[in-house]
Amino acid sequence: MERDQPETRGEGMASEGEDTQDRSAPPEPSAFHHAYAEGVHAPWDIGRPQAELVALAEAGGFRGDVLDVGCGPGDNAIFLAARGHAVTGLDLVENALVKARARAQQKNVPVQFVQGNALELELLGRTFDTVLDSGLLHVFGSGMRAQYVASLARVVRPGSMYHALVWSDREPGEGGPRRLSEADLRAAFASGWKVRELRPARFEHLLGGKGYAEAWLVSIERTE
Ligand SMILES: C[S@@+](CC[C@H](N)C(=O)[O-])C[C@H]1O[C@@H](n2cnc3c(N)ncnc32)[C@H](O)[C@@H]1O
Repeated sequence: MERDQPETRGEGMASEGEDTQDRSAPPEPSAFHHAYAEGVHAPWDIGRPQAELVALAEAGGFRGDVLDVGCGPGDNAIFLAARGHAVTGLDLVENALVKARARAQQKNVPVQFVQGNALELELLGRTFDTVLDSGLLHVFGSGMRAQYVASLARVVRPGSMYHALVWSDREPGEGGPRRLSEADLRAAFASGWKVRELRPARFEHLLGGKGYAEAWLVSIERTE
């Protein structure tokens, strides 16, 4: 059964719906709003860009205008803008954007942070050369994931690249968000997209333990 909203499990990480490793907690639509409430520190807010994305940028993975979808507190978007990209950061939660705007202002880096839903990206009314997704894709169960991929397709052009850093099924335990398999990723982007690279990676977090989750870094080109 597909659920309509993301849910939070454990310490503020979110999950939703059926999948390879489905999660049984009830849906909590306010999960992400809570994560950015006064006095709460979201476990993905490491206060710097994800190291995997820094390496990807240094390897030339980002081109042209960038959309950071589910940008959260904005450190990845700010990092890319500081490298000279025109960056739009989009998040569902206004409080996340308040933090992001303050960080961008403090660093004197121009980023356009906008409130919006990743399932309705066409409302942006434009396309991007590169789309970044750090920790959003795994929020969606397979049904909503298909909606999300369709939404992504409306803000890219043939040749645009989508990079996602997502929790992997190699991450042990039950805490945190849904784990995605390589097969989940390939299935989600089977039509109109081509997986250019898919490799094991790390998603840094503040949940304790080793300080990161086993993840995938996947780079997928829009082909239609
Ligand atoms: C795990 S956090 C990652 C934040 C950021 N990308 C990072 O790496 O620090 C996922 C983010 O996606 C946002 N989000 C969740 N569902 C969304 C949706 N439907 N549309 C836009 N943003 C969404 C949440 O508010 C949250 O900021």
